[in-house]
Amino acid sequence: SSNAMWGGRFAAGPDAIMEAINASIGFDKRLYAQDIQGSRAHAAMLAATGIISDSDARAIGEGLLTVLSEIEAGNFPFRTELEDIHMNVEARLKEVIGEPAGRLHTARSRNDQVATDFRLWVRDQADAAMAGIEALMRALLDQADRGADWVMPGFTHLQTAQPVTWGHHMMAYVEMLGRDLSRFRDARARMNECPLGAAALAGTSFPIDRHMTAAALGFDRPAANSLDAVSDRDFALEFLSAAAICAMHLSRLAEELVIWSSAQFRFVILSDRFSTGSSIMPQKKNPDAAELLRAKIGRILGAMVALFTVMKGLPLTYSKDMQEDKEQVFDAADTLMLSLAAMEGMVRDMAANRPALEAAASAGFSTATDLADWLVRALGLPFREAHHVTGTLVRMAEEKGVDLPALSLDDMRTVHEGITEDVFAVLGVHNSVASRQSYGGTAPDQVRAQVARWKEVLG
Ligand code: ARG
Repeated sequence: SSNAMWGGRFAAGPDAIMEAINASIGFDKRLYAQDIQGSRAHAAMLAATGIISDSDARAIGEGLLTVLSEIEAGNFPFRTELEDIHMNVEARLKEVIGEPAGRLHTARSRNDQVATDFRLWVRDQADAAMAGIEALMRALLDQADRGADWVMPGFTHLQTAQPVTWGHHMMAYVEMLGRDLSRFRDARARMNECPLGAAALAGTSFPIDRHMTAAALGFDRPAANSLDAVSDRDFALEFLSAAAICAMHLSRLAEELVIWSSAQFRFVILSDRFSTGSSIMPQKKNPDAAELLRAKIGRILGAMVALFTVMKGLPLTYSKDMQEDKEQVFDAADTLMLSLAAMEGMVRDMAANRPALEAAASAGFSTATDLADWLVRALGLPFREAHHVTGTLVRMAEEKGVDLPALSLDDMRTVHEGITEDVFAVLGVHNSVASRQSYGGTAPDQVRAQVARWKEVLG
């Protein structure tokens, strides 16, 4: 049979395979609340502007609430032949209230509906992402607060470089997540314009009030160009980009947790709640959640690339290609929210192994830079020469199989006769970190100042 929405133009119904490739109801049913919210705002506006009667608008508004409760109760008859959420809701409304349902679609198109519904949905997800990021930031801040003066090795090339503090390392992720937060905040502000009333693409001859619907749906303003309003999906791309960057940050932290929880590092003990065992090796405790978090970026970045590829080269305005936007964004959003929650749980539960961190911080000649700096400060050597002298001392220590503080003063003097007893004060890891008082440095005071600043920012 031909279609209830456009059957006038058609003599035959679609092929079953056409129906299968064309239908989006299987996934866009997720937009039901936004679709009904948008339709209620539209109906109220149509009545306020005298385009439909108050009694029709009331019937539509109430009927839509009935439809909403049916969907929420799980007894709504979703029908694939009705293609998408917009037509499913409207067709059901017709069954519930009869004739007035047919007036709802005055001065609008499904193009407006999908653009509006999807923006509302992505806007909610931006809010959820921000909440998830903030929760993770708070967990990191608690770790940083507790371990502001615990020393650990700082790495470059994953080789021991200089001692840093646990708190400083945690705060590095707070900075990254703070930027993620601002990316979602920016994206949300930019996407907050209402497409409703584009009326497919050109605007409408009906005297609609787009400012009214925009305000009713919490948008800052109506979109200023009707062509752009229905064809723009950069709000979704921006969301995916912010999500991909955030997931990349989570992936880096996840990788560190995998390394740190290994028997070779023993920097952290992950909680049982976020680990799994092995079916064969009884001793095993595997960091599966961290490994999955390391991998999730693949899905989110994949979604971003997929949607960029869909949108690239599409002529204005709406093309059915754009129906391919939603599954990608749904999956990416679900993945991001789950990832943020899992990382928050892992960070809250994990216990830093302070003695192991400190032992590792001292190994690998980690205070060699402190020694070179001391030669500059105490003996007035140019840094390049101090670097050379220190390198020679490191080689000497390595040959003797000891760390720098274990070299004798006599040994050191064979390399540079000006060296005095005072040098030993700078070779300890606690002295080393305490001396890094430059703004943003790893000194515990600096770390505590950053923790306090972020606590204030987050409120
Ligand atoms: N299901 C469609 C989508 O997801 C809704 C818009 C359809 N509009 C149209 N003119 N076919 O994009």
